[in-house]
Amino acid sequence: MLKELVGALAEPVPIRFLVLRLLDKGFGFLSYKDKIRYGSVDRPHYGYGVHQAALLARKLGVPRISAIELGVAGGEGLLALERHAELARRDTGVEVATYGFDTGAGLPPPEDVRDVPYLFQAGDYAMDVDRLQRRLKKGSKLVLGNVAQTVEGFCERERPPPIGFVSLDLDLRSSTVAALRVFEADHRFFLPRVVCYVDDMVGGADAAYNEFTGALRAIHDFNEEHARMKIAPVTGLRHISKHLPQVWHEQIFVAHRFDHPDYGRPTEDPANTQLPLRDDGS
Ligand SMILES: C[S@@+](CC[C@H](N)C(=O)[O-])C[C@H]1O[C@@H](n2cnc3c(N)ncnc32)[C@H](O)[C@@H]1O
Repeated sequence: MLKELVGALAEPVPIRFLVLRLLDKGFGFLSYKDKIRYGSVDRPHYGYGVHQAALLARKLGVPRISAIELGVAGGEGLLALERHAELARRDTGVEVATYGFDTGAGLPPPEDVRDVPYLFQAGDYAMDVDRLQRRLKKGSKLVLGNVAQTVEGFCERERPPPIGFVSLDLDLRSSTVAALRVFEADHRFFLPRVVCYVDDMVGGADAAYNEFTGALRAIHDFNEEHARMKIAPVTGLRHISKHLPQVWHEQIFVAHRFDHPDYGRPTEDPANTQLPLRDDGS
């Protein structure tokens, strides 16, 4: 608790939000949506992605979805994803299966400068596979091997429920390019819009993340190659009312599948789709 308090005090967060966060961590009274808003759950960016995917699924009448972490390392992220899957299920009634993709042996060697070799080396972030397997829940699956092979045909082999959330955390451009091929599977394996979290895009001048290298370059290349699918940042998320602006708001993207049969299905509440003149009394 003390460590969390010190960490929280170092963030540029108004004290009233910190108090709310700490009270909720102690007493658990906030809704799941508000826990994510105020950061009283760990990895709120995973929570946001899974929750939004589950809400979309519910609107479309889809009872079960998948959430995928591409790049697992020790496994803290996959375990957090499992927890969010359960919280989202309780809130929406939509079941969430979780998958983690990793070599199990850490990063493959960078192929060229676009893999940001000054930050990432072969073998970084190796996994203790047995230890993680023992901690995973039944609804979770670890897909071990290089994504260049494991992503190929994954959906046809595994038949996952429609994928609604993807965390991209493979560090290298080459790995991210290979992993994004998962989106080339049939529309039935996806929600029409898939929320994505892009990890490797926020840092200082030392990391120097940019659109010419790393994950952002992979997304750029994907968009160039696919006319009917685009992975685009969600604009203005940090300004949504009552949100506490957080850095992860910049890291939320959506993979748009324009030809998905449900892409154009209305999802807005009809109560919010009219703006009649207000009565001025005359
Ligand atoms: C930074 S770590 C992931 C951290 C994790 N998401 C978390 O939040 O705790 C990046 C991971 O990507 C994996 N990775 C990178 N390229 C890969 C590839 N081509 N195939 C499979 N896994 C890969 C590495 O093994 C490494 O564990």
